[in-house]
Amino acid sequence: MTSINGGVANHAIPTGEPALVVQDLSKTYRAGEPPVWSNVSFSVPRGQRVAIIGGNGAGKSTLLRCCMRLVEPDAGEVYFGAHKITGLRGRALSRARAQVGFVFQKHNLVHRLSVLTNVLHGGLAQRRSPRLWFQSVAPATDRRKALSCLAQVNLAPLCGRRTDELSGGQSQRVAIARALMQQPTMIFADEPVASLDPQAGEDVMQVFSDLAQAQGLTLVFVTHHLEHALRYADRVLGLQGGRLALDAPTANQSIAGLRGMYA
Ligand SMILES: Nc1ncnc2c1ncn2[C@@H]1O[C@H](COP(=O)(O)OP(=O)(O)O)[C@@H](O)[C@H]1O
Ligand SMILES: [Mg+2]
Repeated sequence: MTSINGGVANHAIPTGEPALVVQDLSKTYRAGEPPVWSNVSFSVPRGQRVAIIGGNGAGKSTLLRCCMRLVEPDAGEVYFGAHKITGLRGRALSRARAQVGFVFQKHNLVHRLSVLTNVLHGGLAQRRSPRLWFQSVAPATDRRKALSCLAQVNLAPLCGRRTDELSGGQSQRVAIARALMQQPTMIFADEPVASLDPQAGEDVMQVFSDLAQAQGLTLVFVTHHLEHALRYADRVLGLQGGRLALDAPTANQSIAGLRGMYA
């Protein structure tokens, strides 16, 4: 472990309890096989931007998924703020999950529908109303909220477009706006720019970073772009050899140093 007090946000003074606490988490997919990783512990202050790096198969996606309990950890605890997530079931678990906007590499937009309708669908995480299926029947308050989420990713002018008319970067920004509809306190993003060209990737990372800075959203993203980890995160976590091998402020890190995570 390079640093155990890794990465107090350099743009936000953390206050109160941390946004995310992971304690002694371990995950094995198949009995008898070695764990993907074990005894992973870290604590993320509100508003901090955290990059997770590590080679293919190091368990980065598994870690994000275990934090949401989309994959069940074998041991350890996860807290969102003061709320223990491990052990929750049913609606309590759904409510806790809705605090996190999850953005994937593939944006999974509904292509034949408008940008605004796709964003409205993000509200279904909180409220299962058929009026959120189409913009034409959505309540005005929801439409206003969706437009405001689009404005936060600089896409309000494209609200009426069909999503199959958008570029990859614009589509990913719509996916971020859709995640914002659930008014998350945290955003988890698993290789959100891996399918984008370099400029679109920078634009999307800048949107994430601005959201963290402007709104105090806590951001945890997986990336293979070490320069993105250094530029858009306050802190970097590295998974290697079945453990959390690096936890350090990005200010202390270099690309050459981070390459050691792939050795
Ligand atoms: N659903 C699953 N069932 C069994 N093994 C899995 C499953 N998901 C991932 N794995 C294995 O767990 C390890 C970590 O995978 P993953 O978290 O996807 O790594 P990363 O995101 O760092 O590439 C890999 O060896 C992968 O094959
Ligand atoms: Mg992965």
